[in-house]
Amino acid sequence: MSEATKNTDSDLDPRIFDSEEFQQNPFPIYKQLRDHHPIYHDRFHNRWIVSRYWDVDGCFQNNENFDRAMYKPDGPYDFGSRHIFGPNILEYGNSGEHRRLRNIIAGQFVGQNLQDFLPVIDKIADEVIDKFLDEGEVEIVRQFSSQLPIRVISNMLGLPRENEDTFVEWYQLLIAGLGFGGEHMTRGLKARNDMWDYIDPMIKERSKNPGEDLLSRICVAELDGNRMTIEEIKGFVTLLLAAGGDTTDKAISNMWYHLLYTRPDQLNDVIEKPELWENVFTEMMRYDPVVHAQFRFTTKEIPIHNEVIPERAGVILYLGAGNRDERAFKDPDTFNIHRDDLHMGRENRSGRYKDGKNGHLGFGIGQHFCMGYAMARQESAIACGKLMERIRNPRAKFADHPGVTAPNIDSGGFRAPEELWMEFDK
Ligand code: HEM
Repeated sequence: MSEATKNTDSDLDPRIFDSEEFQQNPFPIYKQLRDHHPIYHDRFHNRWIVSRYWDVDGCFQNNENFDRAMYKPDGPYDFGSRHIFGPNILEYGNSGEHRRLRNIIAGQFVGQNLQDFLPVIDKIADEVIDKFLDEGEVEIVRQFSSQLPIRVISNMLGLPRENEDTFVEWYQLLIAGLGFGGEHMTRGLKARNDMWDYIDPMIKERSKNPGEDLLSRICVAELDGNRMTIEEIKGFVTLLLAAGGDTTDKAISNMWYHLLYTRPDQLNDVIEKPELWENVFTEMMRYDPVVHAQFRFTTKEIPIHNEVIPERAGVILYLGAGNRDERAFKDPDTFNIHRDDLHMGRENRSGRYKDGKNGHLGFGIGQHFCMGYAMARQESAIACGKLMERIRNPRAKFADHPGVTAPNIDSGGFRAPEELWMEFDK
């Protein structure tokens, strides 16, 4: 740590949030925030930071005081214009428009609608595994986790299989274009436009003659006689790639990372009892979730912990810090798939569970609670279970691993290992 960013227990230099050290291991800073600055006014980045479990939970639940909107119908910002995904649900705050879009679409990713697509996950996982099974080793990120969710989504949408590799290529360009600007952004936007041109005739056709695929279902989903517009459908499909593809990709590699490189004892437990993959998913979403931060704007003055956050201030909710709060979980810095103080079952929007245990904050809570929570959990558990089923004696290839990291936690960068090597017997 440089002199400029050295932090004592109670002093915190906000430049630390831009450091590589923070991206690699944010947890000591999270603890410092929770213990000494439960509400931290970061004047350097002009924002306020919330880090304790119940405070993060409270802000997520309170949509009236904490809004996500970038777009307001009567404001200067043009809907869809600043987002690489185009017009999509993430741009809405807590308006009726958000509810309309969410209610039209959310049902497609839960219950029977989700069950209809589970065999697809199984099939694609087999195909992806076939490609490296003979090698006795695999780089999980490149050969497995980054291949799977995007192919699953492409299949669910009912896109022609012969174009799947092109679709994967568009996805990779689009994801690379997120948040980095410059050349990557230009290529990302081009990939998005190519993809839009490609799906445009399909949207028109399937709106008239729908099949059973997800794209058809999205095209004809209705609420009070309202469907999504073509632009909204395109924006939503693009969002699906990042919100549903990249996140699940990283979730899968994180799950394997923790078992292979930090808890081989628990890897053995999962080999014995594959149903424990669900616990691996849940504990990963607590211990070091894919997404660590979400953003809100205050709609009025908020007095909290002897501070007053002003109206229209930017607030960063560190759910990654809330998940490590000793006030909510025992021994929070230990990855333990058998912990008895975490709700291990399926998550819900309220974040309250009949077993009385606290849930992880990794999907958010409240009005913007992740729409793909059930799909992410099922897909991760099925894919990991399938890989485990087809190999024997999985083990870390190297003695050490640099660990999980993110390009930039504070601008929503997803955390995952960059590479993850595993050896196995057939
Ligand atoms: C492990 C994988 C995933 C993680 C970590 C994740 C994380 C999150 C988080 C933290 C939010 C809350 C955003 C906020 O409060 O502002 C969110 C929202 C959302 N997620 Fe996910 N997600 C995952 C998988 C998925 C999947 C598979 C889909 C696709 C169906 C999806 C679609 C969405 C959508 C559409 C929203 C916006 C919901 C709204 O604003 O009403 N996510 N996700």
